Amino acid sequence: MGRLSDKIAVVVGAGQTPGDTIGNGRATAIRFAQEGATVVCVDRNAESARETLSMIEREGGSGCVVEADVTREADCQDVVAQSEGRYGRIDVLHNNIGIGRGDGGATGMTEAVWDAIFDTNLKSIMFLCKHALPGMRERGSGVITNISSVAAVCAVGIVAYKTSKAALNAYTHALATANARFGIRANVIMPGLMNTPMAIEGNVAAGADRAELIARRNAQVPLGRQMGTAWDVANAALFLASDEARFITGVNLPVDGGQSARIG
Ligand SMILES: NC(=O)c1ccc[n+]([C@@H]2O[C@H](COP(=O)([O-])OP(=O)(O)OC[C@H]3O[C@@H](n4cnc5c(N)ncnc54)[C@H](O)[C@@H]3O)[C@@H](O)[C@H]2O)c1
Repeated sequence: MGRLSDKIAVVVGAGQTPGDTIGNGRATAIRFAQEGATVVCVDRNAESARETLSMIEREGGSGCVVEADVTREADCQDVVAQSEGRYGRIDVLHNNIGIGRGDGGATGMTEAVWDAIFDTNLKSIMFLCKHALPGMRERGSGVITNISSVAAVCAVGIVAYKTSKAALNAYTHALATANARFGIRANVIMPGLMNTPMAIEGNVAAGADRAELIARRNAQVPLGRQMGTAWDVANAALFLASDEARFITGVNLPVDGGQSARIG
């Protein structure tokens, strides 16, 4: 307990896709609060972010909700202004938002799908960092963690999602190298096959058999033939956000049960 004591953490995408399991963003927001952080729960779905905040408050934690569509620069600016206005600073910016809806192979791509995926997975994070960095630089400290995917480095058939996440890895590398002299750390987490609503519910709604889908995903994971959970991502995010990772910046951390280690 207390690994993020007195820290102000902004979790972007702190709500979640509805479903029986917990999502990465919600689990991370809760885990941060359990360790003492005050959590700003940002989501375009304010109701879902409020559910996350209620869960935090039920455990004795605290925070607030900011409704924002972070594909818009003005909303990103507002997220930072509201967080700094209310709490004085942002210690941790955790960018969890990411979508893959409508993605397909190279010949099936539409301009609308490509733009929506890149706007959410990359442009939003660039603008959130653009507006959070000045305060962090002024204070000489700050942590940025961007949620990518092993799709960035593994063979997958979805083109826009993969490319946007690979670009996010490169963007984070640039952030880390340019901001180390200001005492700011920036890292990537690459989740693998996780048992979260985002990964399961959309496919089930599109007609996939739930049990077959889960069994197929489990079978692809080297470690124990079992998908990870959102708590695995949350615990990695907690480590990177905490002072235990004070000498770690510019890394891409897979949380994938060995999926990306399997080469050839
Ligand atoms: N679940 C997996 O198997 C898996 C695997 C690899 C990577 N990831 C990554 O994890 C992240 C999300 O995981 P999750 O389980 O929290 O997903 P989720 O869909 O449950 O939650 C994402 C939240 O982001 C919000 N959001 C989306 N677009 C937004 C926008 N423009 N502005 C504000 N909020 C917005 C949604 O409303 C939702 O509440 C993504 O970056 C995804 O690419 C997930």
